[in-house]
Amino acid sequence: MNKIITIEWRGDHVVMIDQRKLPHEEIYVKLYSYEEVAQAIETMVIRGAPAIGVAAAMGVALGIQKSSSKDAPSLKQDFLNIYERLYRTRPTAVNLRWGLERMKNCFENSLELSIPELKQALEKEAIQIYEEDVEINKKMGANGKHLIQNNSKVMTYCNTGTLATAGYGTALGVIRAAYEESKKFLVYVCETRPFLQGLRLTSWELYKEGIPQKVISDNMAGSLMAKGEVSAIFVGADRIAKNGDAANKIGTYSLSVLAKYHTIPFYVVAPTSTIDLKCPTGREIPIEERSPKEVTHVGGKLVGLENVDVYNPSFDVTPHELITAIITEKGVFDSLSRRLSSLL
Ligand code: MRU
Repeated sequence: MNKIITIEWRGDHVVMIDQRKLPHEEIYVKLYSYEEVAQAIETMVIRGAPAIGVAAAMGVALGIQKSSSKDAPSLKQDFLNIYERLYRTRPTAVNLRWGLERMKNCFENSLELSIPELKQALEKEAIQIYEEDVEINKKMGANGKHLIQNNSKVMTYCNTGTLATAGYGTALGVIRAAYEESKKFLVYVCETRPFLQGLRLTSWELYKEGIPQKVISDNMAGSLMAKGEVSAIFVGADRIAKNGDAANKIGTYSLSVLAKYHTIPFYVVAPTSTIDLKCPTGREIPIEERSPKEVTHVGGKLVGLENVDVYNPSFDVTPHELITAIITEKGVFDSLSRRLSSLL
């Protein structure tokens, strides 16, 4: 299959590429229940903030579609159970909660409808969230592409491409948009330990498109910057607080500090659904901790000591003063705290 299908609605099920198997195996899984969707989010079959927002919305639509409740009160109870199960899957990316909130509003606004009509309304809303995401990513690409100069070298972290979204990507969308304009540039892809989203996923996406790249291990980033080899850095975000602090994949903060020291522009590319005005600063953003095995194992093989104590936060927070600008579908914002709330 040439086109990457991160996630797609198929009437009575959802299909996803299993991102844990990439880049060596392109396996598509079919999920028929909301519980299967919840587990797919938890186990990283699907990951990336906008993608898990879409998955959660489709999980709700699937759960309600399969419900055998015959009246509004019991359907409402089913909705709450589905909502809460999906809500608990991953804590950091606010897009997941945003997707669930949209489905909740749609459910509440459709209570006057018959049960089959209500099920259809939820299905329509989930598909709309998916379609809007692709459009939003393309807009971010258009808004940010001028920040990539011809004959330059840019750096990116984690995976923020088609695989992290419904399609096209956020930070990788900007890179893609600049490439579509025939600009010539090289992308340094940080491997992104421990889960290796850069090495396994971003590198694969760039390879498929023929965008020139060099993969580096994360600890090589500083030396490249010191040599003047990096013109700009583009990353995504999982949650942006009201003051512009941004949570993203663990290791993003270190890159932003290095960028500041070397006076390299550091751009965060994220849809406005990633902005959480209820979070005043980055300190209030919940940070997911994942299994120690992600650190002690590489490619499923134990490399470190089996029962050694491990610290494995999945995300860190980049303070707003280290971010040159946030690129959204509504424009590029550089004086963050004053203007973020005006976006929503
Ligand atoms: O743990 P992951 O792989 O879901 O983390 C993904 C990231 O940190 C991305 O950079 C972020 O979601 C933005 S992607 C559009």
